[in-house]
Amino acid sequence: MNFSDKNYIVLNAVESTNNYANQLIMSKQAVEGTVVLAYFQEKGRGQRGNYWESEKGKNLLTSIILFPGFLPAERQFAISKIVSLALYDFLNSKTLDVSIKWPNDLYLGSRKIAGILIENGVKGRNIFSSVLGIGLNLNQKEFVSGAPNPVSLQQITGKEYNIHDVLDEIVELIFKWYQRLANGDFEYIDSMYFERLFRKNMWSIFKDGDGEFKAKIIGIGEFGQLILKRQNGKLSEYMFKEVEYIF
Ligand code: BTN
Repeated sequence: MNFSDKNYIVLNAVESTNNYANQLIMSKQAVEGTVVLAYFQEKGRGQRGNYWESEKGKNLLTSIILFPGFLPAERQFAISKIVSLALYDFLNSKTLDVSIKWPNDLYLGSRKIAGILIENGVKGRNIFSSVLGIGLNLNQKEFVSGAPNPVSLQQITGKEYNIHDVLDEIVELIFKWYQRLANGDFEYIDSMYFERLFRKNMWSIFKDGDGEFKAKIIGIGEFGQLILKRQNGKLSEYMFKEVEYIF
């Protein structure tokens, strides 16, 4: 792990920083800790095949490359957890009411401020490479479409944020959490992630293949599954994409 030799690639515009980072890995040009930053993405990608829209030069659009060869593939959700926790720490140092919405969205109150798209390569039984794609709304004042109920940090605090300074802070925090992961500190990571989860232990509305239902989030499974308790006491576990969070 050589995260301290920060290797920044800054692009005016790119299709997607995740695509760019994946190409670096494929062409064997990537070193661990490479950070791809773009001011604009022509085809920014979000979860579930959605687009990630962001006004030019206003927000943080970045992809960070890791080579977590120590991590068994079945434990890959731990990467989502540490990136969510790093973003939580950053936001929590600037404002109130931050939470992590499962699996890895960052919320201020009930509005989404950041999304994470992690793309892993597996070799044998372990993770070989990981691209940590982060979209964090910093200075955008208006949102036309896209994610439900988006918000930027400036809309909340009234301050203007320097994208490079924010990136530096976030890279440091990711490195800190990544070291914990490399040290095998799963228990701490798991408990902090659950601690900071949006609407945990509260009645909320979810939707699965059978329709909407009321349940409480009571835990996160070993592989990142959402563990819900329904009103009749029944427990259900869902992987990402198997359940939708209505509120
Ligand atoms: C989500 O749907 O919430 C995830 C959004 C992730 C967006 C970021 S922006 C930088 C990186 N490059 C991409 O194409 N997507 C991620």
